[in-house]
Amino acid sequence: MDCTDIRNRILEMVKQYYLSSFPPGDFIPGKTPVPVSGRVFDDEDISLLVEASLDFWLTSGPYAERFEKKFAEYMAVSNCLLVNSGSSANLVAISALRSPRLGSRSLKEGDEVITVAAGFPTTVSPIYQNGLVPVYVDVSIPSYNVDPENLEKVLSPRTRAVVLAHTLGNPFNVERIYSFCRDNGLWLVEDCCDALGSLYNSKKTGTFGDLSTFSFYPAHHITMGEGGAVVTDDPEMAEIVRSIRDWGRDCRCRPGQSNLCGKRFGQQHGDLPFGYDHKYVYSHMGYNLKVTDMQAAVGCSQMKKLPMFIKKRRENYSFLREGLADLEDVLLFTDAERRSEPSWFGFPMGLREGSYSSRNALVDHLEKNRIGTRLLFGGNLVKQPAFMGQVHRVPRELVNTDYVMNNLLWIGVYPGLTREMLDHMINTVRSYFRG
Ligand SMILES: Cc1ncc(COP(=O)(O)O)c(C=O)c1O
Repeated sequence: MDCTDIRNRILEMVKQYYLSSFPPGDFIPGKTPVPVSGRVFDDEDISLLVEASLDFWLTSGPYAERFEKKFAEYMAVSNCLLVNSGSSANLVAISALRSPRLGSRSLKEGDEVITVAAGFPTTVSPIYQNGLVPVYVDVSIPSYNVDPENLEKVLSPRTRAVVLAHTLGNPFNVERIYSFCRDNGLWLVEDCCDALGSLYNSKKTGTFGDLSTFSFYPAHHITMGEGGAVVTDDPEMAEIVRSIRDWGRDCRCRPGQSNLCGKRFGQQHGDLPFGYDHKYVYSHMGYNLKVTDMQAAVGCSQMKKLPMFIKKRRENYSFLREGLADLEDVLLFTDAERRSEPSWFGFPMGLREGSYSSRNALVDHLEKNRIGTRLLFGGNLVKQPAFMGQVHRVPRELVNTDYVMNNLLWIGVYPGLTREMLDHMINTVRSYFRG
């Protein structure tokens, strides 16, 4: 047997392994867990992972390049840069705004960035990590997205950027926020970690910001285990992101390439001696946030399923929304933002003020019935231990953000949920309120 035969045999066995290792299980309501999210995968995903392992490229390589190309095409943007998580994507994107290559548009220490406190910590932690000052504005209920009315009121001479996530896949009011940024010369970073495939005005979220970020952690719309991406239509910004991701290097050669510019040993850089090898010239304080080629291979395979995943998420959302519609007197539901078609991340339920139940009691009831629940991440980030005492501005009380912290939970809509699971979710929520 030659290598190709052996490889084909391995891949054939992977398929058999998948079928016998991951058979669909029986569902027993109240006993089988109903997670909020999870990996949805098939034999093709495992096969491509094994193929990448057999190639033994290990570091970012051909599959990473293939994924970046596919993802950029899907998003209809010119640049996608893979990183090892959504958090890294946010870190790189916000760090990029401090690049000296941006000249007068580069953010300086102490500049202000408008954001919200009802969300995921690593949307905002890179603001602090870059010596910038987050300015927290309140969200609207029940979209839990920024209230655009609040933006003008918090603008200051130091405001330079807006960083916002599309909460649970429901797009924020892109039209208002985009115009606000354009009219005030502010950068816009869209955190689309929970909103891959969401549409606003029939355009994908992630195509409005100067930079947009994605997560491919298993809870998200597609997975590669750990993974994330930054997309941008600005080629100079893409090079800055690449540099920060790849140790801060100045050179644009990919791994395996050498002397693309033809001036590798013929330039002056900083105070280094003339002709210092460009491969070892650093124009940013960088990181190494690349993925392995095995992760990227899984991403390539998952991309094929993305349209089906998005469709299922929308269907599951609608199914829960219709099934629970008669509980509007006690629960506050979230509908799609005007002009948008969300690719939902989860199904939010807010306990109505004055409702006879508390959020914690409902969570307890669902969890006892094996239904996974989540809060809206950090609730009110300003009140989190890590964020207390850090330099930030809260111009007005975050009343609705506190509502999120106290009264909101969400349950899953991910494509791994079956009809029986969704029925169990509806019955369990209903039985809690209606007995
Ligand atoms: C809105 C948002 N941003 C960023 C992240 C971070 O992504 P990762 O877990 O890939 O670091 C998450 C994670 O769920 C998220 O929900």
